[in-house]
Amino acid sequence: MKQHPSSLLFFLQTSEMKMRVDGLLYLLPLFLSIIFSSAQGLQGLGVNYGTLGNNLPSPEQSVQLIRKLNAGSVKINDANASILSALAGTGLRVSIMVPNQIIPSIAANQSAADEWVSTNVLPFLPATRIRYLLVGNEVLSDYSIKNSTWQAIVPAIKNLHQSLKSSAIYNIKLGTTLAMDALSDSFPPSNGTFRSDIAEPVIRPLLTYLRKTRSFFFIDAYPYNAWSTNPTNIPLDYALFQACPSMYFTDPVTNLVYSNLLDQMLDSVIAAMGRLGFKDVKLAVAETGWPNWGDLDQVGANVYNAAVYNRNLARWMAGKPGTPARPGVDMPIFVFALYNENMKPGPGTERHWGMYYPNTKPVYQVDLSGRRQLDSYPPLLSPNNNSPYLGPIWCVFAGSKNVSWTELREAVQYACGVGNGTCNAILPGGECYKPNRLARDANWAFNLYWQQFKKSGAACYFNGLATQTAKDPSKFPFFLFSEQFSQYRIHLNLLRAEE
Ligand SMILES: *[C@@H]1O[C@H](CO)[C@@H](O)[C@H](O)[C@H]1NC(C)=O
Ligand SMILES: *[C@@H]1O[C@H](CO)[C@@H](O)[C@H](O)[C@H]1NC(C)=O
Ligand SMILES: *[C@@H]1O[C@H](CO)[C@@H](O)[C@H](O)[C@H]1NC(C)=O
Ligand SMILES: *[C@@H]1O[C@H](CO)[C@@H](O)[C@H](O)[C@H]1NC(C)=O
Ligand SMILES: *[C@@H]1O[C@H](CO)[C@@H](O)[C@H](O)[C@H]1NC(C)=O
Ligand SMILES: *[C@@H]1O[C@H](CO)[C@@H](O)[C@H](O)[C@H]1NC(C)=O
Repeated sequence: MKQHPSSLLFFLQTSEMKMRVDGLLYLLPLFLSIIFSSAQGLQGLGVNYGTLGNNLPSPEQSVQLIRKLNAGSVKINDANASILSALAGTGLRVSIMVPNQIIPSIAANQSAADEWVSTNVLPFLPATRIRYLLVGNEVLSDYSIKNSTWQAIVPAIKNLHQSLKSSAIYNIKLGTTLAMDALSDSFPPSNGTFRSDIAEPVIRPLLTYLRKTRSFFFIDAYPYNAWSTNPTNIPLDYALFQACPSMYFTDPVTNLVYSNLLDQMLDSVIAAMGRLGFKDVKLAVAETGWPNWGDLDQVGANVYNAAVYNRNLARWMAGKPGTPARPGVDMPIFVFALYNENMKPGPGTERHWGMYYPNTKPVYQVDLSGRRQLDSYPPLLSPNNNSPYLGPIWCVFAGSKNVSWTELREAVQYACGVGNGTCNAILPGGECYKPNRLARDANWAFNLYWQQFKKSGAACYFNGLATQTAKDPSKFPFFLFSEQFSQYRIHLNLLRAEE
């Protein structure tokens, strides 16, 4: 945090200068300064307000928390009426989303588009400043809806655009969000290229629409993901906006110099657009952020890095630097996410992107306006997982006191069922068979399942029943669980009978 690359210092200095100008303006009549500072307050980064938690504060409380971050805008993953009502009168710019599942019907049917707009948009205008309407979330990453939905994105956008026009709404930009896997090449940035399966059928019509309407290409860009798959070759400081010049990367084709990984990723998208002849389409970052916790095998997911990433991002972007390929061009940016969301499946990071805990306590302080000096934040605990954990890892029963036995049995059954002989040893007659040991069997089943499938993306989670550990579970003292044991045993026997 103390070492800043020279170009970062440059932006810090320019925003300090801006603050001195703020100070001078403050001497102007009171009403002027109030208008000025409230407008300034709404220029911070945006925040993704996700709601996949069963313990989250109300929309009204959430709006207060969003304001405390000095966010300038907020993005939701649907068009939830209570959230849109709570955002009325706040001045925050709002991005709403059409769920992936209804894209085909909206694409096929102008009346369906009209109906969606009149239910989800019109009732909230103008008090809620809806400014972006995103049609689908990372649709082009979901191959299960390839046939049904990919080529429906642009027609759905056009129908919704028509519906807005018929209601004389002209200040909402339409688009869709894509993940970095829309690119088949992103290194060096000048080599950025869209995947060949989407470039012509989807991306070209999308870019044509976005250019015509002067809208944005919305991309989800996570330096964390890029860095964590290659933490030995990419310096962490380069991902966290605090590289020293020796870590900078120079693109051999363009000679542009990169001081951080996000710029590099964004310029690869710009290069990919340029390759299709759309050098001028504006870019927006629909999601970026850093997880504050992760599983044992997830490097660098901690509060320290999350705080540093988001603080530096806010500070950096307050200078409106654009990217090396497009210096000085303004970009809407939405940090992911407002809360840790406990109902998201997958690896530990998935539930830990929040700037707040569900109990409204900040995970760390961050000022999304970027005006707060970095060294004015209180010190953070040093991280202990910034290099990959190299020891053996087991996936075991998380041992919650409040476990639902039915759920645990179902999870064990699932793990045994999808694995290839995973549970043979713990079935009656198997070498590790012991009666009355549901927790022990869960350790066995979860671990073998995970060891078998983690390479293809399986998580050690089982809806919270499983967790990673560095301690060999065969050396644990076991709890004795006899509850409903016989029923569980019957399940395992059934599984075996089916084989
Ligand atoms: C809207 O959001 C609120 C708060 O998260 C939630 O309680 C409610 O169920 C949501 N409504 C719909 C229709 O999803
Ligand atoms: C089009 O959408 C409207 C409104 O949702 C619906 O009533 C109608 O049945 C749809 N038409 C077709 C052909 O799907
Ligand atoms: C999509 O269509 C192709 C060609 O018609 C077919 O082979 C494929 O199975 C379909 N995929 C899905 C997910 O339906
Ligand atoms: C650029 O991408 C191509 C494939 O599209 C790849 O073969 C090539 O190695 C890349 N160039 C560099 C310098 O990585
Ligand atoms: C335990 O689980 C039950 C049912 O899932 C839930 O109602 C209760 O609040 C939980 N208790 C604790 C302490 O988490
Ligand atoms: C399951 O394991 C057996 C023995 O290791 C092997 O012969 C068989 O091909 C495996 N089946 C699958 C579906 O992987």
